[in-house]
Amino acid sequence: MSMGRRQFITQTAAGAGLSLLAGAPRASAAETPMEPFVFCVVADPHLSEAAKPGIRHCGTAVDKFLRCVQAMDAFEGEDKPDFMLLAGDIHPWILKDHLEAIRIPIHATAGNHETTPAKRKELRDLFPSDFQRDGQESDYYSFVHKGVRFISMCDAGLGGEHVGQLCSENIRPSGQCEWIESQFAETEDRKILFAHIPPERNGGDRNMYLSRNDSRWFNNLVGESGPDAMFFGHLHLATEEYALGGTRCFNLRSCCWNFGNAPLGFMVVRVTNEAIETREVETGVYQ
Ligand SMILES: [Fe+2]
Repeated sequence: MSMGRRQFITQTAAGAGLSLLAGAPRASAAETPMEPFVFCVVADPHLSEAAKPGIRHCGTAVDKFLRCVQAMDAFEGEDKPDFMLLAGDIHPWILKDHLEAIRIPIHATAGNHETTPAKRKELRDLFPSDFQRDGQESDYYSFVHKGVRFISMCDAGLGGEHVGQLCSENIRPSGQCEWIESQFAETEDRKILFAHIPPERNGGDRNMYLSRNDSRWFNNLVGESGPDAMFFGHLHLATEEYALGGTRCFNLRSCCWNFGNAPLGFMVVRVTNEAIETREVETGVYQ
């Protein structure tokens, strides 16, 4: 199967075949050869939470997260991921006891469970080389890996409520919106954004999503100059995908618990010159 740049493939965990999705090509992007690589995305490990009914046979939240790590460790050759994105609601006060045993590098973003100044600091302290902007501590950051810019947006503030926002006294330093604009304008051909709370795709006023006005501002910016793909957590539903302009948007299932008895899992993303390919790995089912 031959694919144009920014066409994308999704494969189900059950290997039910490949389906070509209609990601609109961005005509303005330059063609710069890059080294293909794989990364994984894990959402909402909730590491300190007690197991919920229907999923207790899968063990503790730590067990369920480490099952994801073990699955990544088992990938070989060109499937081996370079790193994991951790899309919020992590509980860093538990993760810190397990980091030494986890070999795969982690790049994290804060969830609404990491919004007090103390918990924000705990998360920053676990990943001090990431949570920086211009050499100063920051709740949002970016890094470039093999020519692809990864943008960690912080949209959980205001004491942990479930509606997200981009400006808060708990999102430091101020000026994140201007920073996001500048990140989207950076020179890399490929950009990928990750955050905890997803935007409301129609700009609605809706619980569990980025606030109405922030969603409208963000969606408009993404439509004009957005990244190739964006990954969010927070919803605890089966993974869904939709498009904002030419940007693929993924709202990921949790690896700890989900509404509607949706299976647990994480996402594997392969970035090549021609495409971004995604598949999910199932790590637990409800009984
Ligand atoms: Fe959340």
